[in-house]
Amino acid sequence: MASGSAIAFFQSQNLAEGGYLPTQDVRISPDDRGFMFADGVYEVIRSYGGRLFCVNEHLARLERSLAELRIALGRPERLRGIARAVLDRNGLAEADATVYIQVTRGASPRQHVFPSGQVVPTLYVEANRLAGRPETAAGVACVTFPDIRWGRCDIKSIALLPNVLAGQYAAEHDCYEAFFARDGQLTEGSHSTIFGVRDSTVITHQLDNSVLPGVTRGVILALCRQLGIAVEERPVRVDELGRLDELFLSCTTAEVLPVLAVDSRPIGAGRPGPVTARLGGSFRDHVERWTCAERQQPEAV
Ligand code: PDD
Repeated sequence: MASGSAIAFFQSQNLAEGGYLPTQDVRISPDDRGFMFADGVYEVIRSYGGRLFCVNEHLARLERSLAELRIALGRPERLRGIARAVLDRNGLAEADATVYIQVTRGASPRQHVFPSGQVVPTLYVEANRLAGRPETAAGVACVTFPDIRWGRCDIKSIALLPNVLAGQYAAEHDCYEAFFARDGQLTEGSHSTIFGVRDSTVITHQLDNSVLPGVTRGVILALCRQLGIAVEERPVRVDELGRLDELFLSCTTAEVLPVLAVDSRPIGAGRPGPVTARLGGSFRDHVERWTCAERQQPEAV
């Protein structure tokens, strides 16, 4: 696995207890069901100044994904401490970084049905430094792409081939992100949640099997409640894009990101709108306040 992370945590059948080791020493079996079937799940957690943001929400989502696939990762409560340790061991104790966690069902001779014996799930955790605010922060262009994914997009599965194809399509069109479209409606981005704004109301897809329950989405909806911004939980329709006042996307790494055009057509005035700016500012303030509060107290591990 190519990675900028020098030290990773790795646990597998051969190394049941797991350990911290140089990333280049990680050895994954060709029988690993993640490799064979994409039989696994993942999470991406953001750290600000070394503090893991919304770590409980991310780990709860990971546990839910695991439970839905009936992967029994022993002692998932260890994950917070492992994520912390991987940051520390990579010199990221005070840094802005991402922690990537992947769990697969483990290694077992290739057959579709679950392994019959005791198989230790493969666990891999790495951390990577994040550069400062990306130049995309002022706004990005996106494209639409057919939503060819399966019926359980609420599970954060490592089976990301449609997302890969969508992301590649976006890159080939000089766009930041591809928005999945199904039956005339936008579901979500290849790695982000979509929010429209019309008549000062924020519109975002309801939580169901067709979208990932974004952790950043949860923070943004809480901020909307605090700020008195109305929210409609429903999909943005493709034919509605031309009538939106604003559009933005959110995810762990990009926070709140204005979307200025979709499929080469401008959204609203073609520049970041007031609701997006307000929510983006509030999100930053929220992170600042949270980081300050975290610094006052030792992090619970
Ligand atoms: N992507 N939808 C999809 C399909 C995603 O992959 C992601 C996250 C989101 C936003 O979720 P959150 O706010 O919890 O990051 C929505 C991560 C960042 C990734 O795959 O790298």
